[in-house]
Amino acid sequence: MKILTLIASRRSPGNSEILAKQASAGARQAGATVEIQNIAVSNIAACEGCLACVFRGKCGEEDQMGILVEKLLKADGLIVVAPIYLLSPASIIKKIMDRALMMSLYADELADKRRGALTITIAGKSDWNPIGIEMMNQFALSYGFPVYDFLEAYAPGPGEILLQEETMQTVNTLGEGLVSYLQGKAESRKPLPNQCPFCYSRSVRLLGGNKIQCPFCLVEGTLDQDYQINVPKEALEHAFWTPAHRKRHLEDWIKATRGRYMQNRATIKEKLEKYN
Ligand SMILES: Cc1cc2nc3c(=O)[nH]c(=O)nc-3n(C[C@H](O)[C@H](O)[C@H](O)COP(=O)(O)O)c2cc1C
Repeated sequence: MKILTLIASRRSPGNSEILAKQASAGARQAGATVEIQNIAVSNIAACEGCLACVFRGKCGEEDQMGILVEKLLKADGLIVVAPIYLLSPASIIKKIMDRALMMSLYADELADKRRGALTITIAGKSDWNPIGIEMMNQFALSYGFPVYDFLEAYAPGPGEILLQEETMQTVNTLGEGLVSYLQGKAESRKPLPNQCPFCYSRSVRLLGGNKIQCPFCLVEGTLDQDYQINVPKEALEHAFWTPAHRKRHLEDWIKATRGRYMQNRATIKEKLEKYN
C-alpha cells in the first residue's frame, strides 16, 4: 500500500508540514509505505497550454512534474495538505492541477484501481476559507483519487496547530482510516445534506426552478423546500471526474478542437498580424 503525501506550504516548520507528517504517521501505523514531498519547493512550471500532453502523449516541460506524475500514478493513496492563502489553497495546488490533463491519458488504467485521498486545509479563520476543501478535492480528483475524507483545520501561527491535541489526534486517525479505506475495510465520508455527494462541495449553481448543479464536479440534482441537496445516485455517474466522462471530454471535446483549429489556422494567422 503506497501513500504519497504532498505539502503545499513553504513555511517550515509550518502547520501544513506538521499535519502532513501527523496524517502520514497514522498511515504508516496502519501498514502503508509513505513518501512525503513538499511541492511548494519543487521545480514545477506553469502549464504552457501547448497540449503536447494530449497530442504527443508527453509534456515537453523539463521540470519535476514528470517525476511527480509517475509517483501519483503509482500511489494507492494521496494525502495533500495546503495552507489557505487569500480564500483558497496556496497557488502551487492550482499550478499542479492545471497540469492534470496528462492524467486523462491514464483514465482507463486507473479506473479499476482502488484509490483514495485525504485532503486537509489549514487556515487562519473559518469565515475566510470559502473554497479551500472544494479546490483541494478537485485537486485529488483531477489526479484520479476519489475523496476518502477531508479536514479543515484552523491555526494562524507557525506550529500553532500543535496546541490542538484533539485535531492532531483526528488527523492521525484519518491517516489510518485512509489505509483502511484503500484496503476496502472502511467507507468514504458521508456527505452532509448541504454537500455535493461526489466532491463534498458546499456551493451550488442555480439552474432554474429547483434544479441545481455542483459548480465544481458538475453533478446535477434538486433543492428541496428546506434547501437540502438531493442528487439521484445515477447522477453521480455524470460527474466531471469519472474515468468515463474524463475520456469522453478528452476524445469528444479536447481532441475535437484540433480539427476546427487547423481549419481556421490560416485566418487566425492573418488576423494576428496586427497584434504582433
Ligand atoms: C499570504 C497569506 C494569506 C493568507 N490568507 C488567508 C485567508 O484567506 N484565509 C484564512 O483563513 N487564512 C489565511 N492565511 C493564514 C494561513 O492560512 C495560516 O497562517 C496557516 O496556518 C498557514 O499554514 P502553514 O503554516 O502551513 O504555511 C493567510 C496567510 C498568509 C501568509
